Amino acid sequence: MLNETEYRIKDLSLAPQGMKRINWAKAHMPIMQSLMIRLEKEQPFKGLTISICLHVEAKTGVWIEALTKGGAKIAITGSPGSTQDETAAALVEYYGAQVFSQRAEDFADHINYCKEILRVGPDIIADNGADLHELILTDPEFSHLQTKILGATEETTTGANRLREDFSANLWPTLVINDTQAKRIIENRYGVGSSVVESIAHATNVMIHGKKVVVIGYGYCGSGVAQRFRGMGAHVTVVETNPLTRLEAHLEGFYTAQLSDAIPDADFVVSVVGRDNVLTAKDFLLMKDKVIIANAGHFQREVDVEALNELAEYKEEIIPKINLYQLKNKKQLYLMSDANLVNLSAGNGNPIEVMDLGLALQTLSLERIALASQSLAKIPQPVPYDIEMAVAELACDNWINH
Ligand SMILES: NC(=O)c1ccc[n+]([C@@H]2O[C@H](COP(=O)([O-])OP(=O)(O)OC[C@H]3O[C@@H](n4cnc5c(N)ncnc54)[C@H](O)[C@@H]3O)[C@@H](O)[C@H]2O)c1
Repeated sequence: MLNETEYRIKDLSLAPQGMKRINWAKAHMPIMQSLMIRLEKEQPFKGLTISICLHVEAKTGVWIEALTKGGAKIAITGSPGSTQDETAAALVEYYGAQVFSQRAEDFADHINYCKEILRVGPDIIADNGADLHELILTDPEFSHLQTKILGATEETTTGANRLREDFSANLWPTLVINDTQAKRIIENRYGVGSSVVESIAHATNVMIHGKKVVVIGYGYCGSGVAQRFRGMGAHVTVVETNPLTRLEAHLEGFYTAQLSDAIPDADFVVSVVGRDNVLTAKDFLLMKDKVIIANAGHFQREVDVEALNELAEYKEEIIPKINLYQLKNKKQLYLMSDANLVNLSAGNGNPIEVMDLGLALQTLSLERIALASQSLAKIPQPVPYDIEMAVAELACDNWINH
């Protein structure tokens, strides 16, 4: 059992509840179940410590079980607003994972927790948004890890953008899970598409049919969100800066418009971009009374919440996950989940089966790094094609041929 300085969670007594959640997820994760049996036999991670930044929730819990069975020691943190405290407790209690994560954490806590999971001295990192990469590359406390790390994975689009645009040091191979078609199509389009729309519908209890919805960003995630809103009877307008992608949205039958033309009419505005300050003060001022705003992009700062606070006379939590902003111009705007990822903070995240596939990609990528990192170039790169095909085969076996 870990001692109390080796983890920071809300409440260890929540562990049995968390285990029930993990078992529910596991029952719907046949791919991870089959990988677990092999990993336990082959022990590819024996003697290795993996530091992970990924949402601490039940599906991730199943993944931690698989890695632990494969011999790994795990330290993990999540993201602000998305941690399931009971899952965090179960991971400490039943898997000996060093968890530094609580639902009620802000971005500063998040960075501190990232530091804690690097202090365990990992051999491999599994990153989400490139925060661990950034610390190792920029904070002198962690510079010794630059030569220790065998390799890394990066889960998401935002992290991959940051690795390529902001951090040019190529010291180890980073397999970018998001660069696979498997993740982009199955997880981002179908998984994020359905979980974002379901979370908004469930948390607001507002009918989607007939509503005017603006979806900002028509990438893999945004196109899924737009399709699911349309499937539920909404009138969807897409705002997209890339002209080719805008054309694609148009040919798919969506209205397309500039942001300033689209938002004055919208009942819902959902940002799914992966860049900072997509929605700013001038946009809030254009919105109509009682619009509902949500973010599904990786970082909260996609929505300029500070500017919204400045425009407001006051804000108030109306129902869980929804804050009312009373603006000085007399309009009321509603912001979901403080602009944190709406499908994780106001819902349960992507459907379990989708994460079964995504976490299988992660597992096989980590295994490649553990066993053959020297075969990989020391740059951010897509997951090797044979891994992607192996996971797709496993998904076909379990989803179609089952
Ligand atoms: N909520 C989740 O569970 C979840 C899961 C996976 C990824 N994500 C995040 O969702 C975001 C989008 O991911 P993606 O895979 O769709 O990325 P993507 O790169 O495929 O799509 C982003 C799109 O936004 C467009 N764009 C860029 N700036 C814009 C702007 N100012 N206004 C309008 N459009 C703009 C781009 O042209 C692109 O088409 C990222 O932050 C990613 O990390 C969230």
